[in-house]
Amino acid sequence: MIIFLVGYMGCGKSTKAKQLANKLDCSVIDLDAEIVNKSGKSISEFFEAYGESGFRDYESEMLKNYNYPETCVVATGGGLPCFFDNMDWMNENGETIYLQMEPAQLVSRLHNRQKRPLIKDLNDEQLLQFIKLKLEERNPFYKKAKIIINAFDLDVDKLAGLLNA
Ligand code: S3P
Repeated sequence: MIIFLVGYMGCGKSTKAKQLANKLDCSVIDLDAEIVNKSGKSISEFFEAYGESGFRDYESEMLKNYNYPETCVVATGGGLPCFFDNMDWMNENGETIYLQMEPAQLVSRLHNRQKRPLIKDLNDEQLLQFIKLKLEERNPFYKKAKIIINAFDLDVDKLAGLLNA
């Protein structure tokens, strides 16, 4: 089974993916990290070189062509479910979990903005407004996930339990 974690930047996808994979004793895949490995560019460098649309093409290719082990947990980039048919593809090929979080909680967790090109120049107040707008646009995609969970203070045992329910 492939378990895809989706949600906005800062909701804890990478950390929770590691914890969940540890708990399930399976591999963890971070698609942003795979993009960096394969392209040899940081996410910021990738955006600078090819723009957002180049990035969206590349991450969608990566999602669909990755050689996934039989059981694994996958941390996806925050925008990935919202482009092309990526969210439907994940639903067809695995379990999908939306790690939902309030905009203000996301702001408080997004300290290191430099490596995230879409928000690198925003202060807290601008970021809050930006996230509110983005979530309106992205929630219809995120909410197609089979499981939706409030990710603030989320316990990994609870997360694992949802998969067995
Ligand atoms: C993005 C989220 C980032 C990364 C890129 C774009 C987005 O991933 O893919 O900077 O559009 O929300 P994380 O959610 O892992 O930070």
